[in-house]
Amino acid sequence: MEIKKTIKICLLSFLLLSPFMHVNASNNVKVSTFAVGENTFLLDGHPFVVKAAEVHYPRIPRAYWEHRIKMCKALGMNTICIYVFWNIHEPQENHFDFTGNNDLAEFCRLVKKNGMYVIVRPGPYVCAEWEMGGLPWWLLKKKDIALREQDPYFMKRVEIFEKEVGKQLAPLTIQNGGPIIMVQVENEYGSYGENKPYVSAIRDIVKKSGFDKVTLFQCDWSSNFTKNGLDDLVWTMNFGTGANIDEQFKLLGKLRPNAPKMCSEFWSGWFDKWGARHETRPSSEMVAGIDEMLSKGISFSLYMTHGGTSFGHWAGANSPGFAPDVTSYDYDAPINEYGMPTPKFWELRKTMEKYNDGKKLPAVPKSPISIINIPKFSLSEHSNLLNGMDSIAITNNSDKMLTFEDMNMGWGSMVYIADLPETKSNSILTLNECHDYSRIFINGKYIGTIDRVKNEKSIELPPIAKNSMIQVFVEGMGRINFGRAIKDYKGITKDVTITTDNGNVQTTYKPKNWINIRIKDDYTQALKAFEMSNKQIDLVIDKSISVSMFNGIESLKTEKWLDNINKPGYYRGYFNLKKVGDTFLNMEAFGKGLVYVNGHSLGRFWNIGPQQTLYLPGCWLKKGRNEVIVLDVIGPKGSPVCYGQNKPELDKLNLERSSNIKKPELKKEYLVASGSFEAGNGWQKVKFNTLSTGRYLVIEGLNSQEGKEKASIAELYALDANGKRLSRESWTIKYADSEDVSNGNKTADKVFDLQESTYWATQSGVSFPHVLVVDMGSSNSVSGIEYLPRAEQGAPGSIKNYNIYITNDL
Ligand code: GLA
Ligand code: CA
Repeated sequence: MEIKKTIKICLLSFLLLSPFMHVNASNNVKVSTFAVGENTFLLDGHPFVVKAAEVHYPRIPRAYWEHRIKMCKALGMNTICIYVFWNIHEPQENHFDFTGNNDLAEFCRLVKKNGMYVIVRPGPYVCAEWEMGGLPWWLLKKKDIALREQDPYFMKRVEIFEKEVGKQLAPLTIQNGGPIIMVQVENEYGSYGENKPYVSAIRDIVKKSGFDKVTLFQCDWSSNFTKNGLDDLVWTMNFGTGANIDEQFKLLGKLRPNAPKMCSEFWSGWFDKWGARHETRPSSEMVAGIDEMLSKGISFSLYMTHGGTSFGHWAGANSPGFAPDVTSYDYDAPINEYGMPTPKFWELRKTMEKYNDGKKLPAVPKSPISIINIPKFSLSEHSNLLNGMDSIAITNNSDKMLTFEDMNMGWGSMVYIADLPETKSNSILTLNECHDYSRIFINGKYIGTIDRVKNEKSIELPPIAKNSMIQVFVEGMGRINFGRAIKDYKGITKDVTITTDNGNVQTTYKPKNWINIRIKDDYTQALKAFEMSNKQIDLVIDKSISVSMFNGIESLKTEKWLDNINKPGYYRGYFNLKKVGDTFLNMEAFGKGLVYVNGHSLGRFWNIGPQQTLYLPGCWLKKGRNEVIVLDVIGPKGSPVCYGQNKPELDKLNLERSSNIKKPELKKEYLVASGSFEAGNGWQKVKFNTLSTGRYLVIEGLNSQEGKEKASIAELYALDANGKRLSRESWTIKYADSEDVSNGNKTADKVFDLQESTYWATQSGVSFPHVLVVDMGSSNSVSGIEYLPRAEQGAPGSIKNYNIYITNDL
């Protein structure tokens, strides 16, 4: 009787379990399967549409992880998609950290606990508007390193790191009873280069690290995925809100007619950069895109579903050009920076519920914490910026200056000091090159700023008296995370030239014997700066520094150079709390720099905006006294005060208005091509009849394909004599007849931001002709252009008839 019952139970449980599920005998874990089927993914043998929410664990304080996961679940998502950020896990070569906020295995276990799956994107490069795209800065200590290539040192480090990731996450793949269903190989390599051997090598490393059974995929754009597509990987497409979805999958459908379709990054909004309006994308278009994909059984990951915050120094910078990202990574996502549902969330939730097998979605979880105001408080303690220095080196008999990397520093600022020659007339000082924000002083007197964001390189100096010294202060911002410029050294990367022009004679001088001073972005160093205020500086002095030089620096310090305007430096203040809560620290009284609260680094601020407040999570606050330290490299305008407000300010620009730039006169002799573009999506080429030389590239749109008033362009390239794309690193916009910033920042620089989903658009009410003038930075020989209209269905705003001009004379 007993035996019969047991057999019956066994039989029953066997029948109940899907044929694809089995129990791992060694540890009794229920194991599912995830596989690629005909036109669909298969979970335990059944068709499965991946509805993933992209969320980044380091952008959320650990205390809030589970709340954010539950929010995604309440939105109808079944999966969380994460990147692995190499540079937070290996801050120094061979020192690994997977604890606390870096405990990604725990994050994945929380996802599983909440009945969801995980997609892991372990890089090594991740982009993500994250410092250096996730690569550790110390790689740059090998000067000739080729990043994201088969450089032996790079590949060795990747292998070591991925092995560590494997130790954390391989036990959590679905084959081992965990939540991880898919793992990505590299990231959008097509927008970096064409190199299948490299991508294959990364695939092999990922496999070897313990991801040999899990489904592997690679993500790219529909315009470039074939460049590096490997036969044995799943191919997924990335595109944004508004894109023409059928068009995005057209080529994939042709090449792999039976493959499941997935948009591995469907951009819900966009990231913000300093000095431009906050980006938004219409909710209705995002929801319509998701609706269309779900109705067609297309899997997706919504990037971002919750963006969070790039705390500390982790915000990266976009390129071409240098466009550092703000601290907030709100992204106009459905779940906002501080974890709350937005109108987009509610609208999307309604649509997601339609595809939930007739079931109601789980309730939206309560916020784990309330929001508080903190009354204005003063940061009255001040310490000189130079009190933050902890290391000095001299470049004897050389005009070379040392970068952050040479000084073994990831993030912070440098001060460079050298003797100047006497000059009788004005001269031009050029920093070769300034990375990123420099303030120039002569004998402690402020001369001006050279800002890489504005593509500035030089400044005019007044006549220089005998025995003068130059002091250059350089603050580094995030390292570039996109495109070829990710090899982004900080500080002054080479040298400084001073050019005088005496009538016909031009003389160039390079100062030598630089004193290179390091000021780290580091909380304990900031604390020391206050201890140091009244003491002799306890320097870690390079042996080569002479006593007189040391005294020179000391005297500079006591003369308080850098203090003569607005008082840059460290500021400290306190506030008391009866109850903790999330708040938004208003930084508008300050200039530019970093904030630490109770030792947590909140991130960067800059009065130019658009972000004016920093998210301060309540879980980092305490009842009683809380400490705030601000490192301001410019200095506050008035009294150094802060307060906590109950709403973020992400969209307040404080730029000096540039005087209205006049429309340049387009002379007939500059004209190099006229014609008409074709209608519809996709890249188009125009070849000029003759090779034309000039610094300015002008596109004049005469009318649109739809016969309406608006013009738009998504991307634009100039081609060299061989028809190859010219670098756009030094491009700036000289003139655009109008820019639509009413919703989503459609500024003219979007034509060269290397992003196919972003575009320049003219405002309503302004009619054709529309003119765009690109300053290519120097004179180039141009044989033609490549042009990409908007990615949306019907390519709205496409130009029909055009004139193209090339000239040096605007
Ligand atoms: C690409 C990258 C992401 C992110 C987005 C823009 O798709 O893969 O990491 O940078 O662009 O937010
Ligand atoms: Ca673009």
